[in-house]
Amino acid sequence: MTMPLVLANWKMNGNTNDNYKLVKALESQFSSNTNIEIGIFPPFPYLHQLRKLLGSCGVHLGAQNLSFAREGAFTGEVSARMLAEFNCRYVLVGHSERRKLFKESNDQVAEKFEATVNAELKPVLCVGETLTQRQQGETESVVISQIQAVLDRTGITGFSNAVIAYEPVWAIGTGETATPEQAQAVHANIRQFLSGFSAEIANAVQIVYGGSVKANNASALFSQKDVDGGLVGGASLNAGEFIEVCEAARCRT
Ligand code: PGA
Repeated sequence: MTMPLVLANWKMNGNTNDNYKLVKALESQFSSNTNIEIGIFPPFPYLHQLRKLLGSCGVHLGAQNLSFAREGAFTGEVSARMLAEFNCRYVLVGHSERRKLFKESNDQVAEKFEATVNAELKPVLCVGETLTQRQQGETESVVISQIQAVLDRTGITGFSNAVIAYEPVWAIGTGETATPEQAQAVHANIRQFLSGFSAEIANAVQIVYGGSVKANNASALFSQKDVDGGLVGGASLNAGEFIEVCEAARCRT
């Protein structure tokens, strides 16, 4: 069984004052973060503040996006090397909001995944189907094609230090969550698919669930065999909720 992982995606929320209060409120959780891996993904400008606030408590930093390019004339972009300099450990790639609002294609997501791997950071590849795709029975093919685009670029070795986040688009920020059985079915399918390339990597890769994870549903989701933790949006902005989600992940071990 892989180490449970809870990732806090703050999205475009926060300010220096609120960030400070939130981290202080979470400190007790962070100081006892044994048997669980926790990551916080603030907006870019707050990476420096969070790096200082988190100090050496063992909670890792992540970025919500990065450029496919290493450096140069790419106005407004941020490179993997810059993120590494600010102690980021993870980078989200292919979040559904970026796929939808910023029209990121599977190929562009794969490029960003590769840029993350090349900088020795850990990509968190977000995959998931829309409601229409689920209703039309396309969940499996959509998720696998999103993963295949990355495999085409990096091969299976790209997944040797990566996380996959299954986030059904219809569950993100909607209050509607996949049932534990629905999540487990997709996670198991992803692992099975990857095992066709390398059983070792398929067994080791952490597959987390995202989409309205909250204190009241985290335990049931995390109790599933192939659900290794969560990618938490809204509930990660509330210290009490986030602590309970982390506890649910810890109890999984
Ligand atoms: P949510 O967001 O928990 O607010 O649904 C999850 C995500 O977008 O990663």
